[in-house]
Amino acid sequence: MCPVNMFRRTAMRDTELGGQPIAAGDKVVVFYASANRDEAVFAEPDQFDVGRDPNPHIGFGGGGPHFCLGRHLAALELRVLLQALTERLPGIRLDGEPSRLRSNFINGIKHMPVRF
Ligand code: HEM
Repeated sequence: MCPVNMFRRTAMRDTELGGQPIAAGDKVVVFYASANRDEAVFAEPDQFDVGRDPNPHIGFGGGGPHFCLGRHLAALELRVLLQALTERLPGIRLDGEPSRLRSNFINGIKHMPVRF
């Protein structure tokens, strides 16, 4: 699952991407969930594997000039959050069906009932 669904860019000049001609001014969208399941990159692209190593996902961008500036902070925050949560509420568990955020940009969870 990717937190970001897609990003759109505008081509500055005529070019080609994967054999597809792109004209200056064209809008080009990357769908992260699709790119992160690229069977040319990942051996088992549809398998959720937190231990995947190496893991060349592009969830924070593809490493280009717009590569997420906050990626290390985001990874640290999530590690600390999950550590603190599991330490303080070791019995935490799902207590109902989560509901998803309605957004074409962010792939998120709006409500997730839990019990502890
Ligand atoms: C899980 C959390 C996050 C995810 C999934 C995420 C994802 C992304 C993605 C996909 C991009 C676009 C990269 C590209 O176009 O190649 C991006 C750009 C960016 N992110 Fe994040 N991000 C996260 C957290 C953060 C945080 C915490 C900050 C700041 C404290 C941040 C700051 C930025 C900035 C400034 C850019 C634009 C960089 C540029 O255009 O040069 N992000 N992020």
